[in-house]
Amino acid sequence: MSSILDIRVLDVVSSTNDIAKELILQKKVSHGSVIRAHYQTKGKGRQGNSWESNQGENLLFSIIITPQYYLPSQQFILNQLVSVTLADFLQTFIPDHPIKIKWPNDLYVNDKKLAGMLIEHTILGNTLSYSIIGIGVNVNQISFEKSPNPVSLRILCSKKLNIDSLCVQYTEKFLHAFEHTNPFDEEILSKRYHAALYQLNEVKTYLINGKKCQASILGTTKDGRLMLQHEDGAINYYELNSLKYL
Ligand code: BTN
Repeated sequence: MSSILDIRVLDVVSSTNDIAKELILQKKVSHGSVIRAHYQTKGKGRQGNSWESNQGENLLFSIIITPQYYLPSQQFILNQLVSVTLADFLQTFIPDHPIKIKWPNDLYVNDKKLAGMLIEHTILGNTLSYSIIGIGVNVNQISFEKSPNPVSLRILCSKKLNIDSLCVQYTEKFLHAFEHTNPFDEEILSKRYHAALYQLNEVKTYLINGKKCQASILGTTKDGRLMLQHEDGAINYYELNSLKYL
């Protein structure tokens, strides 16, 4: 592919998502712009968590897109697109270690977290005017202090990888996939997402509204809720803040 990418590499920032947000407000970025940093002082995860990364050892970036053809109710399609394209891309570096997508969009290898995403949207009327796709991939870091269960590409493939080229290659891949995805025909994407879904059809323990229970994941709904079947056969649907994996 020969398109010219707009990737801005910064040294230290609070959070690449926050810088992206500021630049959108100042109208200094456009569809496809990327903000990447070597270090974040306030790297953010979902649900108020922080994102740990040593200086210069990992891929920390935010891709800005303008998904004007997406309705706010179609946010989960973008979520699936980022998860599937990133899992496919990273899989090429670690072919012997299957990558799973832990709902909604963490990438896991053998119960350990390889990458996380924080996708934030600006809604204007009935469309998504901007989406900031913040991605953290553990690339070359081999020891972590705070993250509960981390793993990195380097730990898995026993070699250091070039972070610049990972960023360029994935951004190209994602933007290409985005251009070729019709949000009103998401069936193929949803199949790919479900094929890689972590703990699909396995009986596992979850903390649901503060209570431990055994259940198995049957899939996800179009609006991104997790569908679980409980021991008594009942099927329920959960939002992120009502469920924890144990
Ligand atoms: C999560 O696992 O909860 C999501 C983690 C997302 C981390 C990335 S790192 C680049 C971008 N900037 C941030 O502050 N967060 C995302």
